[in-house]
Formats: sequence, C-alpha cells, structure tokens
Amino acid sequence: MCGIVGYIGDKDINSVLMAGLWRLEYRGYDSSGVASVMDGDMDVRKVKGRLMNLQERLADKPLLGNIGIGHTRWATHGEPSDQNAHPQVGCKNQIALVHNGIVENYYTLKEELLKRKHFFKSNTDTEVIAHLIEENYNGNLKESVLKTVSRLEGSYAIAVICTEEPDKIVVYRYGSPLIVGIGKNENLVASDIPALLDHTKDIITMNDGELGIMQKNKVEFFNNEGKKITKEKRTIKWSAESIEKVGFPHYMLKEIHEQPKVIQDNIDLKIKGKEFNFGENFGFSPKELANLSHIIIQACGTSWHAGYIGKYLFEDFARIRTEIDISSEFRYRNPIMDGEPLVMAITQSGETADTLAGLREAKAKFIKILSLVNVRGSTIARESDSTIYLDAGPEIGVASTKAFTSQIFQLYLFSLYLSKLKWTLNDSEINKKIKEIKALPKKMNKILEKENQIQEMAKKFKDSKDFMFIGRGINYPTALEGALKLKEISYIHATGYPAGEMKHGPIALISEGSPVVAIATKSSVYDKMLSNIEELKSRKARVIVIGTEGDKIIKKLGSDVFYIPECTENLSPILVSIPLQLFAYHIAVLNGRDVDRPRNLAKSVTVE
Ligand code: F6R
Repeated sequence: MCGIVGYIGDKDINSVLMAGLWRLEYRGYDSSGVASVMDGDMDVRKVKGRLMNLQERLADKPLLGNIGIGHTRWATHGEPSDQNAHPQVGCKNQIALVHNGIVENYYTLKEELLKRKHFFKSNTDTEVIAHLIEENYNGNLKESVLKTVSRLEGSYAIAVICTEEPDKIVVYRYGSPLIVGIGKNENLVASDIPALLDHTKDIITMNDGELGIMQKNKVEFFNNEGKKITKEKRTIKWSAESIEKVGFPHYMLKEIHEQPKVIQDNIDLKIKGKEFNFGENFGFSPKELANLSHIIIQACGTSWHAGYIGKYLFEDFARIRTEIDISSEFRYRNPIMDGEPLVMAITQSGETADTLAGLREAKAKFIKILSLVNVRGSTIARESDSTIYLDAGPEIGVASTKAFTSQIFQLYLFSLYLSKLKWTLNDSEINKKIKEIKALPKKMNKILEKENQIQEMAKKFKDSKDFMFIGRGINYPTALEGALKLKEISYIHATGYPAGEMKHGPIALISEGSPVVAIATKSSVYDKMLSNIEELKSRKARVIVIGTEGDKIIKKLGSDVFYIPECTENLSPILVSIPLQLFAYHIAVLNGRDVDRPRNLAKSVTVE
C-alpha cells in the first residue's frame, strides 16, 4: 500500500517521478505528491485525488533539480487531502520524506513532539517521522534517520531528502518493501519493480533493518548499527511490454486474456516428462515431504480462495489433512502446529502484511514454510524455506485474475507431486492427470473466444443489486472468488455460499428476480447442484449457470447458461474462474467503474 519512488541523476525529475508513480498507482491512488531539493530549498507539490491532478500541477509548475522523491497514497491516518498527502516535511522545511506503512506509536511520539513545540500540518502518522528526523539532525542525515527509526514501532519504508545534503536520498526499510534500481550515472528507489523498469533492470532488494544512501554514482547500505554491509544486485527479466496494456482497455482484461499463456508457460517450465520441476527455490527433499503430518495453508483474499481449492486437492489426491485459514485470523489464533506440518503461504505480491506475519508465526515455531509467490525476491519468497513461483508475469490490475489461476495450477501440480511421494496415486493415474493439465490452455482459449456471450449476460444483469454465487465441493471456493471479483470492482453486493447451505438461512433472501450464479459443471456433486438450482427456480430466482458443454438438462434450468469445455472436477476451478472474472469485469465496465483502481483498495496490502 502506497507507492514510493525516488530518483537521483541527470534526467528530468518531473518525468521520472511521474512515470514511476504511474507504475505504482495500483498501490494507492487517493492523493500524491513529489519533492525535490534545489539551491538549498525544499520544493514540495501535493494534491488530493488521482495522479492526473499531480501531473497537471507539475505541468504548470515543474520541480527543479536532479534529486527527488514521490508518493502515491492509500490513506491510513488522515483522510485523503492535500495536507495529508506525502511528502511530509518537518517544521523547518529542511527534511521531506515519503512513507509506506504505519507508525503504530505515532500518537505518543506526536504528543512528545507537540510538547517540544513542533508544529503539525497533517493528521498523518508519517509527519512524526519528518519532525523526528529534523530534530535529530546534526549534519548527518544517515545518523538522524537511524536514531529516528529506533523510536518507531510498526512498519515503514521511507525515502528522505534534506536541504543540507542535496546530493543524496536516504532510504530505510522495516516491514514494507523497497527496491533500489542501479543505473548508469543515476540511481532510483521504489516500492516495486515496475517503477524502475524504464531505467534499469539491475536491482537490489532491501531487507528489514537496512538503510541505503543513494547518490548519483553510488549506493551504499548499512545495518541498524550504522555498519556498512554488502548487498548483491540481481538482474530482472520482466520486459517493459509486460507492464503495458498492449491494446486492452484495462490491465484486468489483459490479465484475464493472458491466462492460457500463463498456464502454458507453467506447463513448459514445471512438467518435465513424468517429473515435476518446481524451480530453483524449491528446496524440500522428497523424504521431508513424504513424512508431512498435515498442511496448513494461510493466505488473504483471492489467494485464500486458491488455498481453499488446494485443500480439496491435497486431501483428494495426496490424502493429506489440510487446514485453510485467513492469515489475519491464523496469526492471532494460536494455532496447533504439532506433528510434522507444512505451512503454506499463498500470495501474489509476496508482501501482504498478514500473510507475512502468519509465516513468521510458523517460523518462530520451527515449522517448514512453503510459499507460492508471484513476485520474485519479495519478502515472503525470501523468508520462506521453499518457494514455488507463480510465473504469471506482473499482475497490475488490482483484482487478481491470472495469479489466481496460476495459484490453482501450482497447488494442483504440488498435490500430484505429494501423491506420487505418498503413493496415493499411481504413475498411470498421475500421467493421465498431466495429460488433462496439458489440454487446459486450449480450453481456456475456447472460453475466452466466447467473451461476447458473457458481455451480453452482463448487459442483462448490470442493474441487479444482490448477487449470490453458489457451488459445491472444489467449486465452492470458486463461487467465493466469483462473488469477491464482482463486489470489489463493480461495488455491487455479492456473496458466495456452498450450495448446500442455502436452506440453512440464505435462501430467505431469494425472491422473484434474485440473481444467482450457480456453478453446475459435470462433477461428483452435479445432481446435488441441480436440486439446489430447482429450489431457487421454484422461488423465481434468475439463475445464471456455469455448465459443461453438451449438458442439455442445465439449459432447461438456467435463465442463462455459459458452457465451459468438459474437464475433470479437480481442474474445473481454473476454467470456471474465467467466465466469472469476465462477468465481473463487464458488469463493472457497464456501470462505469474504474476497473483497475477500485475505490478503497490497493493491490499490495502491506498494512494489517
Ligand atoms: C482480490 C485481491 C485480493 C488479494 C489479497 C492478497 O482480487 O487481489 O483479495 O488476493 O489482498 O494479496 P496477495 O495475493 O498479494 O497476498
């Protein structure tokens, strides 16, 4: 949450900072700002609202100088406003800083600072950091930052500039991501890689408790004691095109359409004949895995839904008991982790605060951690014992789509691997399943070719108010995901239920015309779903059915039917998800929503 960017070099500071902020807009977009140092003066521009407002402000009155910091905000403390936007400055306009995270003890610190006659201009927690750095400043920015952060509780990534030291940006990371980009006669810093890609592919990922001093021709790193440390740089492979919309009106639509390729790339990377290759960061031995007593999956939002699907897969294929929990619950519930469990963290960003905290809880108890992560080198990837990367490419739309189907793919493959190690499936059963996986991309493309059908359905239902999504078995979590997609981007209320639960309460909500999306593909629970749909039809609900090609019965039941190609029950969530994503997308577009930047949300949730 919140995007930080910083630049020192010869390029025009306005364009570099703005281009970086546009790339980070998915992290927050309620206000933004920039600051630079020129001739001993601190120059700050901050505006409420979308980044375009800042761009217009800078077009009128550009910043001067060769060193600057910028920020796009997702408000935590203080409403979105010009004053609360970052950069925040101290009393003397000598220090300016941008911050991502939360200072949990800000109230106490603010009280102290007020007593010492500091004057506050915002309601943010961030402003206390600026005042403290200013108060601690005695000619050495590095020292004053280190002294200041020793007083802070919570999570924070900061980038600081100072009028007295106009040749450097000091950055510090604790709990929120910061990546330094190493260029030629220029250096950059950002919360995420896309903001650096236009300038360099050589990056250094900062760890918690590390401070960096960035100058035009060098970057140095220090630990909390101020001792110099050496850090390795690495080169990233993402192309600039992978972060563009390439002709699609929204990132979300582009990412939905990328899914067949993502699955194909993953097949090519991870299935080697009859063997699985989970990549260089997968470090567990077959023996360790065969001896697992159970699996605990913890994740948030869409990643939690994928994890829930994983539970069905692990239990069905590998016959291994699997718990699934939402990370914000898992981290505070004192879970029992006896035996030889494996804790799995599933996350697109690899930075989600609650998922990270859940991982650390488990690590503190010496439990093995396997993470499924999209962003290489992210905190969760680095802190896990083993990582399977999603290899989905950058996901920029706030609503997760391709990362979700890739997560299901990885869980499917990993469950097959476990079933091999535990002898719960034999070779020919596994080979058959591999064949079915290999047929997926073609089937996914077939669904995407019928996008217009979904668009037509969306037109019919765009004004409906309360949606229910129902499914059974492995498609119960898919129903939850369908409801989440719709509500988060269209702001239409939607809720997901296991179909069998309807008569235990929720069916009371059904009246004439109530929209219900029912997942009734051919499966072990197909007949049960038919009965549930009948019950809804008897109460005059408008049922949209996701069914399997060739199913004639379903046609008679659903008000609208969307057919997916035939596939096995355990793989069906990957196919079923696509029409659900498209349905949410088109309803949101028809309602004029800002699909890639839904209100109140941000892509990377780095605060709890
Ligand atoms: C919804 C969505 C969120 C994320 C959740 C976890 O479309 O994207 O629910 O799934 O915030 O994020 P990651 O996967 O980055 O841990």
